[in-house]
Amino acid sequence: MELKDPASYTDLAQGKIKHINFRIVVDFSTRMLEIEANYQMQEPVHGSLYLDSFKIDLKQARMNGLELEWEFDARDDILGERLHLKGLDGDSTFTLMFHASPEARALQWLNAAQTAGGKSPFLYSQCQAIHARSIFPCQDTPSVRFTYSAEVEVPQGLIAVMAAEQVEVRDGTGHGYATLFRFKMPQPIPSYLFALAVGNLVFREFGPRTGIYAEPEIIEAAAWEFAENEIKMNEAEKLLGPYLWGRYDLLVLPPSFPYGGMENPRLTFLTPTSILGTRGQTSLITHELAHAWTGNLVTNATWQDFWLNEGWTTYAESRITEVLEGKDVEDLRAAFSEKQLIAVMERIGMDSPHTCLKLPGDEKDADSFTTIIPYYKGCFFLKECEYAVGRKRFDAFIQKYMASFQFQSLTTEAFLDFLKAELPEVFEKVNVHKWVYEPGLPEEWHRPKSHLYDEVQEVLHDYEQGMRPAQQQVQDWHRFQNFSFLQGWPEKIPTEDCQYFEDILELEKRNDAGYYSFFYATCIASGYEAVLPRVEQFMGEIGRMLYILPIVRAMIEADWSRGYIRPLFEQVRGRHHQITVYAIEGLLKRAGL
Ligand code: BES
Ligand code: ZN
Repeated sequence: MELKDPASYTDLAQGKIKHINFRIVVDFSTRMLEIEANYQMQEPVHGSLYLDSFKIDLKQARMNGLELEWEFDARDDILGERLHLKGLDGDSTFTLMFHASPEARALQWLNAAQTAGGKSPFLYSQCQAIHARSIFPCQDTPSVRFTYSAEVEVPQGLIAVMAAEQVEVRDGTGHGYATLFRFKMPQPIPSYLFALAVGNLVFREFGPRTGIYAEPEIIEAAAWEFAENEIKMNEAEKLLGPYLWGRYDLLVLPPSFPYGGMENPRLTFLTPTSILGTRGQTSLITHELAHAWTGNLVTNATWQDFWLNEGWTTYAESRITEVLEGKDVEDLRAAFSEKQLIAVMERIGMDSPHTCLKLPGDEKDADSFTTIIPYYKGCFFLKECEYAVGRKRFDAFIQKYMASFQFQSLTTEAFLDFLKAELPEVFEKVNVHKWVYEPGLPEEWHRPKSHLYDEVQEVLHDYEQGMRPAQQQVQDWHRFQNFSFLQGWPEKIPTEDCQYFEDILELEKRNDAGYYSFFYATCIASGYEAVLPRVEQFMGEIGRMLYILPIVRAMIEADWSRGYIRPLFEQVRGRHHQITVYAIEGLLKRAGL
């Protein structure tokens, strides 16, 4: 099948990468990775091979001991450089020697002061969506899968982890008393699931298949927060089938990590803002764990099909949450999600093609069109499919879907073909075309109903009539009731109410950055200028984009704060991952700032 991924230079007609053998030296002093990579193709290649790369400093390309001719022959700000290997003569292996740039977009190099311990430097990668190419030249499209092995050399005292199986640790060998870690990833993965981190890490085991890595200063808290992961895995397997990746561990990163979590295989990367001391945000793990099936096992073929990853994962997350936390909680989360979904659709325009599940085909900047729409709209669509045939049949369908497409990448169209073959009644009862290919939301669907959510709406209604709630009314609320309350506030409120709500919701005591994301956005819109130093601190510390981008948007929108945002950003940009810097820069540029 002819498949074009607008986010990659890959030409599938040239062949596909099958396996890569890496030798990586991590150099904190130059902030570079020195890499020798040996590539094996599925089949012999004749003539040219195009690989994606981004600021890669290529030193040498060899095949069979001979120099291979190469050239960076196309350039683009987003796609990076096309590496054109020339004159391949029916060979299927070649070796590249190169450096990943200190400006590699996937990598964040942190100095010791930016870590919990404050004593050792830290490095981590974030390859989704199209940043693997800044670490190594590759066919950086989710439609190509490869296995790999890696040897990683790090300064003595530091620990290297990868989203792969650790096979050996050798201390004190190599040059300069380095430690050598060896890994293998025997299951084929798309490039965006390649992941590496290095730092002062310790490990705690939860159960036979699960554990957690974190800096020693936070390992206790982290291990307590997620101690129930083994149970979670068992629930996930009931819904989705056997877990095929071996272990499932977590890695807690420094707070600048741009996402809540990243589903790197065998090793989910995690924001420390998920450690609340209450086990109140473990649905984040449910989500990343579900990706081990929906995303990692069955993968979107292009970023236009991103809803296949995130919509399916959000659906699985909701099913598992229903079992682990009860239907009331899941209904509440669904009602909140619907509100969020509509708010985002209204912001970008109800008739914008970016509100379709299948995204417009001419977009190459896969990160910049990431919104929550494929998550929630995708999830609600799959729930409609479930309602159409009943849970029992839909559950059988899920298992068959996973088993039929495991370790494959598929397009929305291939998915719909499968759905039609397996569950034709869905197409009679659900307007599939409208859900998938048309913007906004259909008029009629099973919208979420939640009495816990309605309770909050009553309090909000009273507030709009001039009645502020008393602390007793809100003190026992579920985390998602608090979210629904913060989300439902009028756009602007009196500044003394900002203070009042912060008190009665006990935001400070709860120390949940998610609340502060909503709270600060409303404070800013309300002209509560005294909050600015705290916003500055928040923006300097926390990288999770879901939390900080709404604050940036609020600061751009309000007249009083607009002049502050650019200087504030310049002050904190050095502390953030380049993905975050790029996203904020994009918002500011679009606002002419
Ligand atoms: N895979 C995503 C993160 C991602 C999306 C990285 C797009 C790069 C491009 C991850 O599974 C995710 O969705 N994380 C969410 C948390 C989730 C519970 C909604 C996040 O980061 O907030
Ligand atoms: Zn996800």
